Amino acid sequence: MRKIIIAGNWKLNKKPKETVAFVEDIWKGLEEREPACEVIVCPPFISAPVAAASAEGTAIRVGTQNIFWEDEGAFTGEVSGPMIKDAGCSHAIIGHSERRQYFGETNETVKRRIEAALRNDLVPIFCLGETLEEREDGKTSEVVETQLREGLGDLRPHNPERFVLAYEPVWAIGTGKTATPEQAQEVHAFLREQLGKLLGTNFAENVRILYGGSMKPNNAKALTSRPDIDGGLIGGASLKVDDFIGIIAESCTEH
Ligand code: PGA
Repeated sequence: MRKIIIAGNWKLNKKPKETVAFVEDIWKGLEEREPACEVIVCPPFISAPVAAASAEGTAIRVGTQNIFWEDEGAFTGEVSGPMIKDAGCSHAIIGHSERRQYFGETNETVKRRIEAALRNDLVPIFCLGETLEEREDGKTSEVVETQLREGLGDLRPHNPERFVLAYEPVWAIGTGKTATPEQAQEVHAFLREQLGKLLGTNFAENVRILYGGSMKPNNAKALTSRPDIDGGLIGGASLKVDDFIGIIAESCTEH
């Protein structure tokens, strides 16, 4: 049984002051439902500490959208694992396609960030996915397998509860084009198989693999009811309380 995770990636949205009320509103929507899933919000760095303070005592967990690979030192502008941890966060998104596309993220830097998250007892949410061109060229499996293998490098995380993978086809992010549940399930099953080869079948069977890319309340159930889709990483729809709660309401059954 893998517990569903619904994680909101706020991207470059929500200032610290808006964050307080927003987290409170999510909790109001969740409290009475007692959802059988893990709920995570990932604000921008500057809003993460207030999100964590607002979420204290609730079932909401807070993550960041990145993490630097060194813990301290002369690295102007960076934010490290110990800082993220000290701010009350528990997760860090790593290798999001927007970071790969706009900020020069590579499989090698992804690996260093995953290592930093694990070292600091933070749960990495490791993102990967193919572009439209790669899918049309029939290269989806090859691309995600390389991202997975190189992103892990020589790392051998052993606790599947403290590691999350997110499959986010680039062509589905923010475009309104969702992968069909069949397309997503196929890649998720493939990734689980690859994880089995790299980290063992126990790890692969227990790790959560989230889908990301235009997930909304009206398609969440069809996706998360697939056997290998263990939740969602939600961008646009995580910015509206009703949509985010709606996705949780549709998705949160154990499978
Ligand atoms: P989207 O973004 O839900 O807006 O498509 C998902 C993501 O980029 O994590």
